Amino acid sequence: MCGIFAAVSNESVTSTLVGGLGTLSYRGYDSSGIVVSNENGLVRRRAEGKLESLSALLSDQPVEGYVGIAHTRWATHGAPSVINAHPHMTDRVAVVHNGIIENYPALKASLEKDGYVFESETDSETIPQLISRNLDKGMSPAVALKDAVRQLDGSYAIAVVFADEPQTIYAARYGSPLVIGQGAAGHFISSDSIALSRVARNLCYLDDNEIAQITVDTLSITNADGITVAKEMKPLVVSQQDQGKQGYKHFMLKEIHQQPEVMRNTLNHYCDPATFTLKEEAFPANLSSFERLSIVACGTSYYAGMVARQWFERYACLPVDVDIASEYRYRESPLSTNTLALFISQSGETADSLAALRYSKEQGLTCLSLLNVETSSMAMESDCYLRTLAGAEIGVASTKAFTGQLLVLLLMSLQMGKASGRLDRDAERELIKHLFTLPVEMAKVIDEMANIDTVAASLMHSDHTMYLGRGMSFPLALEGALKLKEISYIHAEAYPAGELKHGPIALIDNKMPVVMIAPPGPMMGKTLSNLREVSSRGAQVILISNGAGIEMAKQHITQAIEVPETAPLLQPLLYTLPLQLLAYHVACMKGTDVDQPRNLAKSVTVE
Ligand code: G6P
Repeated sequence: MCGIFAAVSNESVTSTLVGGLGTLSYRGYDSSGIVVSNENGLVRRRAEGKLESLSALLSDQPVEGYVGIAHTRWATHGAPSVINAHPHMTDRVAVVHNGIIENYPALKASLEKDGYVFESETDSETIPQLISRNLDKGMSPAVALKDAVRQLDGSYAIAVVFADEPQTIYAARYGSPLVIGQGAAGHFISSDSIALSRVARNLCYLDDNEIAQITVDTLSITNADGITVAKEMKPLVVSQQDQGKQGYKHFMLKEIHQQPEVMRNTLNHYCDPATFTLKEEAFPANLSSFERLSIVACGTSYYAGMVARQWFERYACLPVDVDIASEYRYRESPLSTNTLALFISQSGETADSLAALRYSKEQGLTCLSLLNVETSSMAMESDCYLRTLAGAEIGVASTKAFTGQLLVLLLMSLQMGKASGRLDRDAERELIKHLFTLPVEMAKVIDEMANIDTVAASLMHSDHTMYLGRGMSFPLALEGALKLKEISYIHAEAYPAGELKHGPIALIDNKMPVVMIAPPGPMMGKTLSNLREVSSRGAQVILISNGAGIEMAKQHITQAIEVPETAPLLQPLLYTLPLQLLAYHVACMKGTDVDQPRNLAKSVTVE
């Protein structure tokens, strides 16, 4: 969602600002803008659409200076347009904002009553107007800002530049992340650390209710009481692996190919490769004391939870609920303190997941999060957290974070089984040994998807598709359908194959391709019966199975994607790969924006 970048530098900042926005663009946006402070005052440039439009505007109407703030906007209040794009400003102050100001109608009414005129439909414009009113009352910039943020309800990360203090940028946060970087050329502010990697060597994170003030060579941070906070600047480490597309056409493809590495890192973090045992110290200590597990997440992370439910039931013998975060909070289901609440989130910033976490804490539940970003709000607010070791994920459609989540959840279920005495040493060793073959098996599957292009070509002109699977292959079907709709804009539905006859079969005809996920195992026979049911009604069937499954179904399928024979434990992880690749190739053939699909954001920080 919205991205903030700001710089006070001893070099001209315009290209640094636009470069910073470029790195933040993976978050999703529909307009962008900058304000540069120079001898002409606060000079603004804004454009609708992709960053190229802002760059084109800047080459038409250049602006240079050593201090500036910048923003990519994902529209919430007001349509994507130049007028609603940030920065919002008055003649005295300019502001970029990420978050939602919930009490903006009341604030706006009070400002308008005092004669302050709004130009946009946004909640964000309230902030510069409030600051301006304070300045007009005679407050200094620092006091005007402090007083203004005190009046805001909701969440905000903001960067602010004042006409009267042109060498300084202020930043403040409540509920939305902000990171401050220090580099050879000056100080920088961003919504995430990846965007700082080109300009900063060290960084620190701003905490809620803190206000930072940066100049080219100074940084000071104060808390809500106005007391100076001493922050340790930590070296900014962005792994080589996470930088750039590294020769791949898209980040998504690179991230699909990184999955064997993610599996290897995860296994080495949570398991001992010499003894094939779980490292107990890598998990929270008291996991066996809970009698129930409540998994809460959004999007792909929710589907990871649905797959994992079956592992927790099987290995830890725990009853498990899996909820979508935006529904969970309002369900008023009876919660008891012997339930472990598990939140799954790649970003750790998803507004609904964060709100669900806060709600569970209020209810007295122990809250464990599974996160890919250790500095995220959910990491700070959980009782404890587990890491996915996926590295930065840039493609909006989640791939390596999903399989990273699956593997940690599987290992956690084994650890819970072990801690409660249900999983003995021999079984543990046997299972972990299988898991250590995963990186090689995954690499094989990714490299051997030879016919995926042909299969993708058969789907690219479809308006609708249906994904079917049983058991763990049902959440995989949901995830496969989500990948396809996210990046190719083809309507895709997913059902448990056994539900077919209770409605969805009415949709089947020769215009409805069906992707059937049928790994070998106890469910395979029944899934193949469902396959025959759809094929006899004219559907083109794409079967994802092993060689034997494909052989059995060959008279009823149009295409097949073969996944090599593997241990049942590894199946969900391996069968995810063709689903990701299929969606990717269909999207490439359709020419969509694979890494930044329309209307979507990587991290959804509004409810
Ligand atoms: C957005 C992203 C998805 C992601 C979901 C949940 O919708 O586009 O890829 O699965 O948010 O995000 P989280 O960061 O909480 O896993």
